[in-house]
Amino acid sequence: MADHSLRLGVNIDHVATVRNARGGAYPCPIRAAQLAEQVGADGITAHLREDRRHITDADIEGLMSALKVPLNFEMAATQEMQDIALRHKPHAVCIVPEKREERTTEGGLDVIQEEDRLKRFIAPLREAGCRVSMFVAADQQQIEATQRIGADVIELHTGAYCDYHADGDVAAREQELVSLKNMARFAYDLGLEVHAGHGLSYDTVHSIAALKEIKELNIGHFLVGEAIFRGLGPAIQEMRRLMNAAREV
Ligand code: PXP
Repeated sequence: MADHSLRLGVNIDHVATVRNARGGAYPCPIRAAQLAEQVGADGITAHLREDRRHITDADIEGLMSALKVPLNFEMAATQEMQDIALRHKPHAVCIVPEKREERTTEGGLDVIQEEDRLKRFIAPLREAGCRVSMFVAADQQQIEATQRIGADVIELHTGAYCDYHADGDVAAREQELVSLKNMARFAYDLGLEVHAGHGLSYDTVHSIAALKEIKELNIGHFLVGEAIFRGLGPAIQEMRRLMNAAREV
């Protein structure tokens, strides 16, 4: 029988955003990651941006040595980031757009535009044992290109779905949900592992978590925000509860 369990990856970038606002060491994203691990996160996600606006090189090093759960290392497709990933060999590498020209109008990575370069770019990462994922919009052609370049995983961009929800545009939100549903199925049938994330909150997670082809959700900003009100551990536990509830129906 197919395995339809759903993993929660907790993105700790914005713990580092708060830390960096004062330029010191507090609050420590590694401590947050360890707490997330203790309350049931299946993985930790961190995005080392080219401008180091939140996570730093030292954070990645610290996460690699402190974590028991897998690290999902988000990065742009640059030589500098590839060198860092090959040095640490995290469990997973998720390629994300950072510059406008790298992204589609929907906000995901434009894999088609850079197909040959991305194919060459991810090969050494896969040879090093990293599971490589592409952060793409719910777009069939981008998913086909992701499969052609040899990636293991697609992460579906849920940002548009969450934005429509926030704007109260129910028709657009439901249409986007249909696209996410169809494309999760399409990618799954192609043999890709399907993840999703960006902008998810307690209000939006149910419909996405209910899509059985999705194996992992990566959630960060909302959880760090909610930690202000109820603490990080309880914030994560509530997300986990909602994800489980969505799978039970
Ligand atoms: N997935 C990917 C690929 C991301 O780049 C991010 C961060 O932008 C997330 C998930 C988590 O998004 P958020 O912090 O909005 O929950």
